[in-house]
Amino acid sequence: MPRTATKKSSSSSKSGSSKSTSRSNSGSRSNGSSRSSASKSGATSRSNTRSNSSRNASPTSRNRGGASKEVMPGSMLHEFFMDALKDIYWAEKALMKGLQKMAKNTTSEDLRAAFEDHRVVTGNQVQRLEQIFEMMGKKAQAKKCPAMQGLLEESAETIEETEDDTYTRDCALIVNAQKAEHYEIAAYGSLVTLARAMGHTEAADLLQETLDEEKETDALLTQIAEGHINEEALAEFENEESEEEED
Ligand SMILES: [Fe+2]
Ligand SMILES: [Fe+2]
Repeated sequence: MPRTATKKSSSSSKSGSSKSTSRSNSGSRSNGSSRSSASKSGATSRSNTRSNSSRNASPTSRNRGGASKEVMPGSMLHEFFMDALKDIYWAEKALMKGLQKMAKNTTSEDLRAAFEDHRVVTGNQVQRLEQIFEMMGKKAQAKKCPAMQGLLEESAETIEETEDDTYTRDCALIVNAQKAEHYEIAAYGSLVTLARAMGHTEAADLLQETLDEEKETDALLTQIAEGHINEEALAEFENEESEEEED
């Protein structure tokens, strides 16, 4: 991280929340590419989700009549599924705190709004997971997710290693946040597929809703980065270089 990033330049920091989440931006060049990561994670896109639930189900989850058969408690697969839910439940709760910290430390208003909005969305995702635990006849339980913990430590490091009121920090926070979103996209993509294969159709639908929200957030962050933050961070770098040359 640059040690001496200059104070923010004047343009576009107060542009307000850009709530638009155009899907056409999600596969863009810098600061992540949600579309490709989502497809690698096995995630299904919104366009082929609910209506295709039977097509997505694994053949082993169907009985002879073609209807889904639920994989029942006690099986290893069920235990694995429940463990994965506990892991993402912990991750979402940790991310709520992380997003709050990231929002407090941004320079750009639109990025702050994006983090704050996603914190609210994440709260709903936590409730959705609680609903799924209930559907499974279990009390919601969190299990520490070392992956999310590591990603949040990275964002705390970013805040420590960059100067206040710099776009360089914003740029780095977007990278940190997109890593966290991509982790969630991978986790939910797999959970949706697994829940469907196991015959937990209602749970799969709820998980799909969350997956869609994670992709939207990832796309929005790309949009903000490309809208002005990457450019502002580059300008800070160029200022820094010219100041060094003068010395
Ligand atoms: Fe989430
Ligand atoms: Fe998220």
